[in-house]
Amino acid sequence: MDNRPIGFFDSGLGGLTCIPNLMKMLPKERIIYFGDTARTPYGSKAASTIRSFSSQIADFLVNQGVKMIVIACNTVSATCLSELQKRYPDVPVVGIIQPAAEKIARTCSIMNKIGIIGTKVTIQSGQYKELVHHINDELDIYETPCPAFVPLIEEGIIQNDIMDLTIKYYMDDFILENRLDTVVLGCTHYPLIRSNIKRLYPALRIINPSEEIVHSVKRILSEKDMLAEQPDFENVFYASDLSENFVNMIERIFHNEEIKVKFKNLELEEVGEKR
Ligand code: DGL
Repeated sequence: MDNRPIGFFDSGLGGLTCIPNLMKMLPKERIIYFGDTARTPYGSKAASTIRSFSSQIADFLVNQGVKMIVIACNTVSATCLSELQKRYPDVPVVGIIQPAAEKIARTCSIMNKIGIIGTKVTIQSGQYKELVHHINDELDIYETPCPAFVPLIEEGIIQNDIMDLTIKYYMDDFILENRLDTVVLGCTHYPLIRSNIKRLYPALRIINPSEEIVHSVKRILSEKDMLAEQPDFENVFYASDLSENFVNMIERIFHNEEIKVKFKNLELEEVGEKR
């Protein structure tokens, strides 16, 4: 048993899409989340920049006493998972691409045409293809970057025509030319536009890695006998810039929940407390 919190981080609010499933599957776990809203997006930045931002945040989480670090960001996972694992030999560090690759390999067959969408960095890394093909090299995988999605989502431009047009701009030809029947949301921001994608392409099967990562978290905590029993800790959300959308998103996730959420900004000290 281990009642310490789990540390989650992402370049912004995308990693929050992992939280509902965590609350469902592991309701006794508490988290410290860090969204680097001041420096988002990461997906078009140099690997050295992503590495340096990520170790800064992970150091912060480790100093907060987390029992595990969950990289709720495909871009960071693609860039520096193994470095972060080496940096904290005593803290399990979980990336998001491996559990997603396992789900793809487990649930798809050679009959499927699978499209991976993600940031430029994630797609250029080729990690999805590599990890899926490591399990089953017969699966038919296509990849394309969608770099405008994250800035729009961080701005809260989601349920409207601008987002729909952007989705069509990136995905119409990609789906048609490759005759895709499955798409993988290879960026933790993308589940926030899942309903747009479903509405525009109703026949498409959508795989959501933000849900899959929680299965890995559960498995590792169980194996190490580190599941929480009676945490007396509140969920705490840190943002390097406390954007309105970050706050709104947390309120949406914890809607109707008997839960206290503290908002904190690393540079400006604590900003406030919600509910
Ligand atoms: N949520 C991050 C990911 O999964 C976003 C990337 C970004 O900041 O561009 O890749």
